[in-house]
Amino acid sequence: MPKDTLTITDNRTGKTYEVPIENGCIRTPDLRQIKTGSDDFGLMGYDPAFLNTANCKSAITFIDGDKGILEYRGYPIEQLAEKSSFLEVAYLLLKGELPTEKELSVFTDLVTHHTYVHENVKSFMDGFRYDAHPMSMLGSTVAALSGFYPDAKNIRDERSREIQITRLIAKMPTIAAFSYRHTMGLPYVYPSNDLSYVANFLTMMKHIGGAYKVHPVLEKALDVLFILHADHEQNCSTTSVRTVGSSQVDPYSAVAAGVGALYGPLHGGANEAVLRMLRDIGHVSKIPDFIKQVKGGEGEKKLMGFGHRVYKSYDPRAKVIKRVADEVFDVTGKNPLLDIALELERIALEDEYFVKRKLYPNVDFYSGLIYEAMGFQAEMFPVLFAIPRTAGWCAQWEEMVTDNEQKIARPRQIYTGATRRDYVAREKRTGQK
Ligand code: ACO
Repeated sequence: MPKDTLTITDNRTGKTYEVPIENGCIRTPDLRQIKTGSDDFGLMGYDPAFLNTANCKSAITFIDGDKGILEYRGYPIEQLAEKSSFLEVAYLLLKGELPTEKELSVFTDLVTHHTYVHENVKSFMDGFRYDAHPMSMLGSTVAALSGFYPDAKNIRDERSREIQITRLIAKMPTIAAFSYRHTMGLPYVYPSNDLSYVANFLTMMKHIGGAYKVHPVLEKALDVLFILHADHEQNCSTTSVRTVGSSQVDPYSAVAAGVGALYGPLHGGANEAVLRMLRDIGHVSKIPDFIKQVKGGEGEKKLMGFGHRVYKSYDPRAKVIKRVADEVFDVTGKNPLLDIALELERIALEDEYFVKRKLYPNVDFYSGLIYEAMGFQAEMFPVLFAIPRTAGWCAQWEEMVTDNEQKIARPRQIYTGATRRDYVAREKRTGQK
């Protein structure tokens, strides 16, 4: 009868150990019993960048990277993108089930009525330089919210958590739009309660004089993009939110850490980097040269928007995005960089370098083109990612806070520094060799 255990023989001592296997994992603390002697700390796992270490149990998002599957609470992303709305998906992520008509209406109403920020938040944002990156303004302002809502410290209070989560989801578009208006030197536009989540955001971004009417196709397209970006299990930013949140700090501070992680070009900053890359390439005829540089650059130059830590066949979000791109370009006219992107994708998918390494377009390869066609500056792209991801961050934060197995995150290290030595008086030091 097969057993769900792993038998380990320590060849240093000849001793054998049996450790349980649960959900395809061993618990690495079980390795600590494997010692060479009483003063041995015990065996640890070494896994820089968590390539093969599960940090939590989660019931929110499922990804099968080899098969290209992404599901929120069991629902395939393709079905949600086609049939759902962002706020419905946010509810699903947070509560675990799709809302009834009544539940959705209550949730929408709640979010709508928390979109305003304190007037002092506006003054706080005014303090940024005119050329501040909107993502840096977003992260700092979200962190500042913890100073506006001291009750957010009550993370053990379910009702308080619910209020903070509602505030975060509701205020994110407002802060994002204010960041943009600040960099453009334009007056802030206050939220409108009679508009949808996305239409309200677009109006706060773009309204200048007269009446501003959001095009329904663009409103729907951005809503779908928000659904695609709402969660993605334990990626860099979500792990940051969970790690910072594990210290039991308030959720604004934890989510601000997520914004910081998302800002990086290897994560949510990739869509901005893709656009800059396409602009740099400039013309289809320059693509072979660019590909040569990527292949010969020992990882220094990358084909941005390609590759993923988890997806090794295709990114299911990229497929949906291509359809959205067509719908948007029908309204806005084709983005002239699209031809470069399509040709780059065609060549890369045939090239042995990319095929061997299983590098496929990820969600960011086309999203930047859509955002640009919709009139967003490249600096706003990671911000457009952070707005919907806030729903995922909050769901993951809530799950972490209520998980009895979780403790403050605190990895181990392998110390490689100097061995113990005595302090040397300043005048006797010889300096670095
Ligand atoms: N272009 C060229 N080569 C690449 C690329 C790329 N985009 N991505 C990976 N590679 C190469 C690496 O150089 C490495 O080659 P080697 O085996 O010869 O050393 C190999 O493929 C494996 O790559 P890793 O860096 O080990 O893969 P990892 O899982 O650590 O990185 C990542 C994943 C960060 C997404 C990477 O593919 C990348 O940098 N892509 C470009 C940035 C990007 O698009 N990020 C967005 C990700 S999606 C998101 O965050 C929403």
